[in-house]
Amino acid sequence: MSYDLILESGTIVLPWGERETDIAVKNGKIAAIGSNLGKAEERFNAKGLHILPGLIDPHVHFRDGGQGGVEGVEDMRSGSLGAVLGGVTACFDMPNTNPAGVDVESLQAKHDYIPGHSWCDIGFFAGATADNLDDTGALEALPGVCAMKVFAGSTTGSLLVADDASIERLMRSGRRRVAFHSEDEERLQARKAEFGKDGPYSGHYVWRDVECAFKGTRRITAIAERTGRPAHILHVSTAEEFEFLREHKDLVGCEVLVNHLLQCAPDVYERLGGYGVMNPPLREKRHMDAAWAALADGTVDNIGSDHAPHPRENKEKPWPEVAAGLTGVQTMLPLMLTKVNEGRLSLLRLAQLMSEGPARIYGAVGKGRIVTGNDADFSVVDLQARRTIENKWIASQCGWTPFDGTGCIGWPMATIIRGQVVMYEGQVTGEPVGRPVHFRS
Ligand code: DOR
Repeated sequence: MSYDLILESGTIVLPWGERETDIAVKNGKIAAIGSNLGKAEERFNAKGLHILPGLIDPHVHFRDGGQGGVEGVEDMRSGSLGAVLGGVTACFDMPNTNPAGVDVESLQAKHDYIPGHSWCDIGFFAGATADNLDDTGALEALPGVCAMKVFAGSTTGSLLVADDASIERLMRSGRRRVAFHSEDEERLQARKAEFGKDGPYSGHYVWRDVECAFKGTRRITAIAERTGRPAHILHVSTAEEFEFLREHKDLVGCEVLVNHLLQCAPDVYERLGGYGVMNPPLREKRHMDAAWAALADGTVDNIGSDHAPHPRENKEKPWPEVAAGLTGVQTMLPLMLTKVNEGRLSLLRLAQLMSEGPARIYGAVGKGRIVTGNDADFSVVDLQARRTIENKWIASQCGWTPFDGTGCIGWPMATIIRGQVVMYEGQVTGEPVGRPVHFRS
């Protein structure tokens, strides 16, 4: 047997632990794991490096509905370029694009647009609207769709399904897990007059308070339980929600963002101004501590970035006109590797949260673990490399990161997608090879 590629002598992060050995790839799949695997057309010397299962960022906003993105902000090509430079092999993209991904035509167009435009593999969410509540069974079965996404609280764009009756209707159509931005719209609007007028950027987490997030999460959990339909609460941001979700793991999953693990109020608003504003907001340290505890005890299923680029002029507007959202797809891996080096989590747990977790939650076929038969997707990292994140490294068209100037220990050295070395030592090679991700329906 001659293989297409053999990765030699790396420390492989297998589902059951680390092992220094070789991986053989044939036709884009992992064909064998072990030593003395024989001949291959290409060999990759991974001595001294760790090989993680291809990392998935299951929460990105690439701003591209399949007709090109927004100039100066993002499109699928620039967003996915950031992903592979940051060691990420697949992204799941949100539907608040123009056109929005909310019906068969727009979702089919987005699917067909991926080859030739994306550097990494792409899954994408179908957005819920008042007009498609009874169609989720059909929409979630379309190729490339990872789940329905419900914006139950308003944020960037106009997608919104906020009331219990509509959410319940949607939950009774279809059967796959439904992903939620769970902030409670009624409370957000009710507090706007008093807290949402003007003032410092830190007013953001006063307006969109703990109860906004917690109330929304309680409501959605109750509907999930009534209907028996699994849900996933995206970007959980409060200690109260982690405590609550810990008791509801049978039906409701839990995502945490890198930003909520690494930055907190009031410091982040003082340092970054509008570049610290996102939804749900960055909050006080007790919530960050609760996120780490939930990550350690298994409450959290996956980590995402919520990569949400906005042009500088919109991030520099005063609060509350400032656009909400932060870039993150390119920086999530080095930032989390740094936490591994600091002893906050193991590399195995990182692989669970950033590869196996998103693959399992959304049912991505062939992704998430280094086992024979799976796609040959690998994030190859140097745990010793010391680098500093800088705006000039960022591929996003908006050109900024809230982590500009942050020193990291641990850095992505290569990104391999279905056996193709797409990024090596900071350079992309060849043409975009991304394909739609296949999901279990
Ligand atoms: O801060 C955010 N920005 N949160 C979201 O949920 C949406 C995102 C965006 O699209 O800009």
